[in-house]
Amino acid sequence: MGPNLTDKYWIHGGGVKNVYATIKAGVPAKGMISWQLVFSQKQIQQLASYVLSLQGTSSPGGKAPEGQLYVEPVIAAKDSTRGTKSL
Ligand code: HEM
Repeated sequence: MGPNLTDKYWIHGGGVKNVYATIKAGVPAKGMISWQLVFSQKQIQQLASYVLSLQGTSSPGGKAPEGQLYVEPVIAAKDSTRGTKSL
């Protein structure tokens, strides 16, 4: 029915914020209702986490990827040794 949720390709954007927003709003035009009146904010967070936990668990014969490849942005760690004046 819906797209494969175990790959890195997302029709409505990957990452926890987009997945949360998709679950909350649903995609009524394509057959998924909005879940915001059904589940609490916390439950939608839990559903988003659960959906993301499915990454890489695809079984043979699963649906082909749809949408765009989503790559989690990497936030560069602050290098604590930089900017230190040498004595
Ligand atoms: C709480 C249960 C559900 C969750 C957590 C959930 C989650 C999601 C997510 C995260 C997406 C976006 C996938 C993407 O961006 O590639 C999606 C899409 C979709 N879901 Fe659900 N879903 C649920 C229930 C359902 C149900 C019950 C149906 C249908 C009876 C459904 C039908 C669809 C369809 C057709 C799409 C694709 C929309 C499109 O092509 O734009 N979902 N779902």
